[in-house]
Order: sequence, then structure tokens, then C-alpha cells
Amino acid sequence: MSRVIAIANQKGGVGKTTTAINLGASLAVAERRTLIIDIDPQGNATSGLGLNRAEVDASIYDVLIDGVSIDDVRKREVHFSYLDVVPSSRDLVGAEVELVGRERREYMLRRALEAVRDEYDFVLIDCPPSLGLLTLNTLTAADTVLIPIQCEFYALEGLSQLLNTVRLVQRNLNPRLQIEGVLLTMYDQRLNLSRQVAEEAKEYFGSRVFRTNIPRNVRLAEAPSFGKPIVVYDVLSVGAQSYLSLAQELITRGEHVDDDPTSEERGEDEESGASGVGGGAISDLADGATIESKNQRGGGAAEGSALTGVEEGDTVHRREAEVPESTDVTSGVPAQS
Ligand SMILES: Nc1ncnc2c1ncn2[C@@H]1O[C@H](COP(=O)(O)OP(=O)(O)O)[C@@H](O)[C@H]1O
Ligand SMILES: [Mg+2]
Repeated sequence: MSRVIAIANQKGGVGKTTTAINLGASLAVAERRTLIIDIDPQGNATSGLGLNRAEVDASIYDVLIDGVSIDDVRKREVHFSYLDVVPSSRDLVGAEVELVGRERREYMLRRALEAVRDEYDFVLIDCPPSLGLLTLNTLTAADTVLIPIQCEFYALEGLSQLLNTVRLVQRNLNPRLQIEGVLLTMYDQRLNLSRQVAEEAKEYFGSRVFRTNIPRNVRLAEAPSFGKPIVVYDVLSVGAQSYLSLAQELITRGEHVDDDPTSEERGEDEESGASGVGGGAISDLADGATIESKNQRGGGAAEGSALTGVEEGDTVHRREAEVPESTDVTSGVPAQS
């Protein structure tokens, strides 16, 4: 069974593209058949993988707008025999507008993927920094969402908006969508700030935060200008080792979903029978969770908190009545206490 993972966060510069390229390459190194789809008009994943955008004759644009098959646009065996890539192109900028008038406009990518998804173990989709139609197409096509969070001030700002979008997609377009996990990027263990972001992310996302963090590593920033994934550019770098270990974590998670070390303290997961990748992630969060800073809750100054800027009352409640019974995320999870 293939796993289609949307790498999404409407903030720019959080590490989506770096993760798409390097997690994808690491999965390919582990001999998992992997497809990276670049659905960002900026095309950074395309160029970062060494594909010359000027020479790309057909792209994801043709798939979304003209119904061309993915088989006709994918580049085979990019760097590794296990890695294929669907490139982006500049005309994708207009795709959002061109899609607006179409029927079932959110389903274009999903429909196109159906023909090839079984050829892959993993399909990673690099989203643009927005919640527009391209991201909606991605969330509709995906099984799970991987959310990179940069360990900086305002790290969790805007996450409620993203999670609300995920919930809307679950309700209306793709009931099976789950949260794959939250990935801490540009982590610096020497900084209090990084540790604080990690702590707060764990508080809200619990076991859904990947155990692997991606540290800030200059080799990761250099690699795209050589058109190489980090495992090719500098396999001994800490950046390469981190993405390899993330790939391993993702693979292991899929194989042993019950082996979650934190599932004891999150007993409701087990009772609910929420299983499978990303099981119950959104309901974890929705149990009355309000994304707000600790400082705010403690009544202290919000300054210095990684969560500053998240509006108070910016809640991510699960509104039980509105969620269809069949939706995995609600399965048996007790109403918020
Ligand atoms: N772990 C990291 N260490 C150092 N630089 C990073 C790291 N992750 C990303 N970067 C750099 O940060 C910038 C933004 O990352 P990118 O992956 O393009 O984010 P996004 O796709 O979310 O906009 C890029 O210049 C990238 O090279
Ligand atoms: Mg990007």
C-alpha cells in the first residue's frame, strides 16, 4: 500500500521543500519506491533535485489543467533508481486561477494519482506556502499531512488555520486524511527557543511529533544549489543523517503503528482503536486544546514565547456534531472533558 504524504504549512521558509527533497531521497536510499511531486509554482524542489526548469517540457501543470497523465510527465530515476519526480513549471502560477471555474477542481491531483500511486511506497507532495487550490488538491489527494515547523519565534502561529483547513478537507473532500506528524526543523539544541518550541509542539501534538528533529545545518542549505539531495551532496553531514533517520522513523511507524512509546500516556488512542498512520492525531489536538502560549496561560508576558502571535481564543476544537461518523479521527475518542 502506498502512502501519499502532503508536506504542508502555509508559512514559507519552514523547511517543506528541504524535507520533500531529502526525505524523498532518503526513502529512495532505503529502497522504498518514492515519487516526489512538486506542486509549488516556485519549483524549488524541482531545481533542488537538479532538474532544469527551463528544460522541463511537461509538468504538474499539464496534469492539473490539461488532464495529462502523471506517467507522461514524471522524470524517472532521479539520482536513484527508486526516485521519480513530477516537476513543477512556471505556468503553475496561473493554475489556481484556471482551476477556479472547473468542476471538481479540488480532485484533479487525486484523480491523476490513482493511475500511478500503486507503483510507489511513498508519494511526497511539496506544497506552496498558501492554502489555495493547489494545497487543497494536495490535501484531497493525500493520506496524511506532514507539517514542518521551524524552531523560531512564531513557530506555531498560523497552525490553527492549517488544522482548520485539514478539518474542512476531512469533512468535505477527503474523510481519510490524517496527520502524519509534526517535524521540527532548523532545530538548535543549544537554544532555549528551540527547546521551548519542541516542548510546546509536544504538548499539543503529543506522539505525533517526530522523534527525529532536523537541526540547522549549512550543508542542507547548500545542497540545492548543486541540484543534489543531501545524501548525495554530503552523506556524512548531520543534515543527511537526520533525514535518513527521519525516513527510518517514517518507515518503522508504518510497520509498527502500535509501538508508539507515548501511547501509554495517551491511553485514549488505544481505547479509541484509532489505528493506522496518524490515527487520532487531530482528535488528540482537539481535546479542548487551545493553541496559546504557556506564558499567556500563566498570565505572564507573552514576549519570548514561541507562540506569541497566536491569537487568544484561536481554538482548534473538534466540533463533534459536524464531523461525519465515518471519519477516522473521531472514532471513539471521548468528547472533550
Ligand atoms: N535544517 C536546515 N538547516 C539549514 N538551512 C535550512 C534547513 N532547512 C531549510 N533550510 C533553508 O531554509 C530555507 C527555507 O527552506 P525551504 O525548505 O525552502 O522552506 P519552504 O519550502 O517551507 O519554504 C532554504 O534556503 C533552505 O535551504
Ligand atoms: Mg518550498
